[in-house]
Amino acid sequence: MDKIHAAILGASGYTGSELIRLLDRHPRFRLVHLAAHSHAGKQAGDVLPGLHDKLAALQLVHIDDPLPDDCQLVFAALPHGAAARTVARVLETGCRVIDLSADFRHQSPETYRQAYGTDHPYPHLLHTAIYGLTEWSRQRLPEARLVANPGCYPTSMLLPLIPLIRAGVLDEAPIIVDAKSGASGAGRSAKVELLFCELNESCRAYGLPRHRHSWEMEEWLAHFGGQPLRVRFVPHILPMNRGMLTTLHLSGRDASSWRDILQQNYANEPFVRLLPEGNLPSTASVAGSNRCDIGLSPLDNDECVVISCIDNLLKGAAGQAIQNANVMFGLDETCGLPDLPCWP
Ligand SMILES: NC(=O)c1ccc[n+]([C@@H]2O[C@H](COP(=O)([O-])OP(=O)(O)OC[C@H]3O[C@@H](n4cnc5c(N)ncnc54)[C@H](OP(=O)(O)O)[C@@H]3O)[C@@H](O)[C@H]2O)c1
Repeated sequence: MDKIHAAILGASGYTGSELIRLLDRHPRFRLVHLAAHSHAGKQAGDVLPGLHDKLAALQLVHIDDPLPDDCQLVFAALPHGAAARTVARVLETGCRVIDLSADFRHQSPETYRQAYGTDHPYPHLLHTAIYGLTEWSRQRLPEARLVANPGCYPTSMLLPLIPLIRAGVLDEAPIIVDAKSGASGAGRSAKVELLFCELNESCRAYGLPRHRHSWEMEEWLAHFGGQPLRVRFVPHILPMNRGMLTTLHLSGRDASSWRDILQQNYANEPFVRLLPEGNLPSTASVAGSNRCDIGLSPLDNDECVVISCIDNLLKGAAGQAIQNANVMFGLDETCGLPDLPCWP
């Protein structure tokens, strides 16, 4: 069977290298083009550790270099702000795009401006993008030319929250989202606050008073849940490589029934797992897998703590991007994706 030819723009970064790892083993995609920015011109093996010889010998071309004529799908794993121009150029070639950045995650230019403090350079493209939270978007993906892959924090909170909002059991009070991420969530570029001594043995909040993902959370909660709700989101960075744990402090009615609501929604989902009563998720149990694990603990009939865990680089980025690509091209949604963690 012919393989689908794919390119990674941003192959030298953390999500780009995770895409390489997954696509190299994928039975239906073939990597035909790897591009970078400051590392353009180098061999992949000089920039990324542990590649096998065939991958290591590939040259990283520049992000602005033309794509091969036979390229069918581009994964854009570039910083937000820089991605939009490249994505717009690629779309003109007729190639389909999955953008891992935030540049096409908002439907309205005004929301984008509020979240990112600048006008969107291609506002006419915003409405053409499908927001690729696979479990809730899969019907629209087969026709998509441009998929906006969700952010890792939004993925970790939207998956447990959407069914509860749709069931109408939550209060209108702001939703408190207390989330922790491993350091790979901040990308590979050098920053003082990501040095070993700044991170190790420490935990800190950042992005306050209103992290840009708050707008993404509110927009897609309203879209999928049908009810506008305010979000109070506080992200933290932890001294671990990968993983994300998100704790939702929720109030509403009949909290003892929320487990059933989640179970009904996700019983047949390959990558969303509701943990048995009394079990709570951990980042170690999902690291290296494309799973989102959800656990909940009702405090009383009106309050409940819901906790979700994902690997920020898998279900939070490269894994979900490939899940979306599988649906776009009519493949089995789980194709090439790990559902077990690399544990311990
Ligand atoms: N990390 C995560 O957990 C995560 C999760 C969800 C979404 N995302 C999003 O995915 C995107 C990639 O994230 P990442 O963590 O992989 O970032 P990263 O490790 O910093 O990698 C960024 C990539 O983009 C290239 N690049 C850097 N500056 C550029 C510029 N000005 N113009 C064009 N290309 C440039 C880099 O090339 P050189 O190395 O050659 O300079 C590198 O290949 C971001 O938009 C991020 O927000 C990340």
